[in-house]
Amino acid sequence: MAVSVLMVCLGNICRSPLAEAALRHHATRLGLDVIVDSAGTGDWHVGHPPDRRAQEVVRRLGGIDISGFRARQVARDDFHRFDHIIAMDHDNHRTLLNLSPQSATAQLSLLLDHLPGQESRAVADPYYGDTADFEKCWRLVDEACEILARSFKTDT
Ligand code: 4NP
Repeated sequence: MAVSVLMVCLGNICRSPLAEAALRHHATRLGLDVIVDSAGTGDWHVGHPPDRRAQEVVRRLGGIDISGFRARQVARDDFHRFDHIIAMDHDNHRTLLNLSPQSATAQLSLLLDHLPGQESRAVADPYYGDTADFEKCWRLVDEACEILARSFKTDT
């Protein structure tokens, strides 16, 4: 059966769309059946495409087109719909814990908990940064998602 993963950041226009693209890419490359989505804890950008800088960096460094992605906010039923809900930073992790119904079945973690040596660390928000911050963000998220995808391979 497919594993399902929801990537979560604040706006769903920078970090979590990159994580969605990276995990789907690695899962496909490894021939795995993984359902991937992303969402934001905030609602400011609902319906918007990813930030132009995020679109540019993932196209240039990853060869992936994310222009069709649209931001959405995390919903309570996500805690039952997904096996894993993965937060980009501690603020979002805390918000998710507060939102989580008692009956939640999803496993909550930080993305970098899956990257050996980076456990408990946050993926820094590049929104107020420059191109170099977006490049750094993509490389980190891509590395973590490759390892995460491989862990699903050994799970099944
Ligand atoms: P994200 O970045 O959480 O990685 O999508 C942000 C996007 C927008 C805002 C903050 C962070 N904002 O304040 O609008």
